[in-house]
Amino acid sequence: MTSSFDFDGRPVRYRPGQTVGAALVADGTRSWSRSGRTRRPMGLFCGIGVCFECLLTVDGVPDVRACLAPAHEAVAVHSQDGPPSRHPSHPSPTADELAEGAP
Ligand code: FES
Repeated sequence: MTSSFDFDGRPVRYRPGQTVGAALVADGTRSWSRSGRTRRPMGLFCGIGVCFECLLTVDGVPDVRACLAPAHEAVAVHSQDGPPSRHPSHPSPTADELAEGAP
């Protein structure tokens, strides 16, 4: 069974249990942000929430790590341009916080 979420205005299919990052890569999207200084494309690197290469905006919350954010039908995902808007040591919101709409 597959479902989809919205990424920059287009549907991206995911399987239950996949993260947003895994679904994007499976969909053929390799990068969704650019580094602030060198402007190089960024996407999944470590895949385990350590490197902060995969930041994007989920339901209006910036700097969410795509490799940790669970994909679900109601989520709206947007690519992000530039450096993190929050300090990288600030943890991404948990799945429960995202569901509650916490920044
Ligand atoms: S890919 Fe490294 S934190 Fe997400």
